Amino acid sequence: MTKIAVAKGDGIGPEIMEAVLSIFKAAKLPLEFEFVEMGKWVFDKGYSNGMTPEAQQTIEAVGILFKGPMETPKGKGVKSVNVTARKTWNTYANKRVFQTLHGVDTVFSKAGIIVDLTIVRENIEDTYGGIEHMLTPDVSLSRRFITRPGSMQVIKYAFEMARRKGTKRITCGHKANIMKLTDGLFLDTFYEVAKEYPELKADDVIVDDLCMKLVTRPDLFDVVVLTNLQGDIVSDLCAGLVGGLGFAPSANIGDHISIFEAVHGTAPDIAGKNIANPTALLLSGMAMLRHLGLMKSAVMIENALLYTLEQGIHTGDFGDKSKPALNTTEFTEAITSNFGQKPKNNPRPDLPDAPITPTIFKLKQNPMFSSPDGKWRIMGADFFIESDEQPNIVAEKALKHTLNLFKLVTVSNRGTQVWPKGSKFTNLVDLYCCRFESLEEASVTQTDILELYKRMSADFIICSTELLNEFGDKKGFSLAQGQ
Ligand code: NAI
Repeated sequence: MTKIAVAKGDGIGPEIMEAVLSIFKAAKLPLEFEFVEMGKWVFDKGYSNGMTPEAQQTIEAVGILFKGPMETPKGKGVKSVNVTARKTWNTYANKRVFQTLHGVDTVFSKAGIIVDLTIVRENIEDTYGGIEHMLTPDVSLSRRFITRPGSMQVIKYAFEMARRKGTKRITCGHKANIMKLTDGLFLDTFYEVAKEYPELKADDVIVDDLCMKLVTRPDLFDVVVLTNLQGDIVSDLCAGLVGGLGFAPSANIGDHISIFEAVHGTAPDIAGKNIANPTALLLSGMAMLRHLGLMKSAVMIENALLYTLEQGIHTGDFGDKSKPALNTTEFTEAITSNFGQKPKNNPRPDLPDAPITPTIFKLKQNPMFSSPDGKWRIMGADFFIESDEQPNIVAEKALKHTLNLFKLVTVSNRGTQVWPKGSKFTNLVDLYCCRFESLEEASVTQTDILELYKRMSADFIICSTELLNEFGDKKGFSLAQGQ
């Protein structure tokens, strides 16, 4: 028996989890469920990460969490338990499969266009660190981390999955034309990994263009890999292509711990009524069974689900309105009664069971990725300072502090250069960036920067600083617009 940690979740969570577990029990799966406490009422009990210490212990011991949707209490300053779980356990790849389901009408199914695409979304980094600061009363800042090891993990996973699936095309969605260092790093990593998979057609599309293409010709895409926030938005768009959130499963894959859950939330508007659609959670359960190697059972249950949908059997949120909607329990029973049936359209092919993936790992310390030491030089610093004065006044004051080590190269406001050149039409906020670079491209030390900091603080509130780094001959900073 393989142990699985199960968290029922909030809102419709307990109802749809009960439905899916009853299907698993009817299929006599070799799984043992350990129920853990996570979600809203755990926050209410005072656990600020939304899970009890016992839940954390169990999940780390068994390596698999099957969870219902969970609510993050609003206005209490606590972070989403869903995001905490993904980040704490490094489930770096969020895989979402979107397929046309016969019986679930969409504009594409009516036009005879079959959708079968997989979105792999980076799951740990990006703006989801939630690292935010108010730099002045008017200016907020969110830090967006994109790292090489983080990108490498998820992109390698996407390529491996595409190879296993026999996919032809793998596409990177990005905005590297604007975010040259962050999305640029993600895109470079994509093409670096692509070299190891010559049989796959690897290409890239700017994310806005990708959205347009997905809603016009979704059948042209196979596997799409994206950074976290862009992946979040694009994958909900894809849920819409196949019938909505009720049909969108999700697997959060890590090296040690993996989490399986539906994409949708707790649906408070229908909670407790026994009318929720359990399909998305059931499809997430199928992904979990496949992850564990239980292919035969996954195929059997999925075929029963597809057959049921094909018969026009539906819950209230989708399907042919001329046929009565079933409640959650009736819909679930319809699926179990169809065990052994196969749909006419796209039955899932029979597969042998794979060896059960081991899920129990013991780590002595946190895994750490680091690059070998290269040439790393500090070439200057950006000082983000508060001021409601005009750019020439800011520059005049800053110029007093350059010592004989630095030059003031540019003053910018929200990323647009306003000194030495600029336009009177550029709107200003009370946060400027003064960029100091070392004279004659010599490198400087952190102590030099501290001296500059001390001097600048005589004239300004310094809200934030960033070092201007150079790695080998590669500059580690972007230019201001117009610089
Ligand atoms: P939601 O997904 O819960 O609901 C959006 C709409 O879809 C509602 O009208 C709801 O009734 C419907 N819906 C969702 N799932 C359904 C299902 N299985 N069957 C039938 N109808 C369904 O999104 P909303 O309202 O924005 O969020 C509600 C709560 O869920 C929030 O507290 C949010 O933080 C949480 N949430 C949790 C997630 C997770 O645990 N992974 C993901 C998204 C939201």
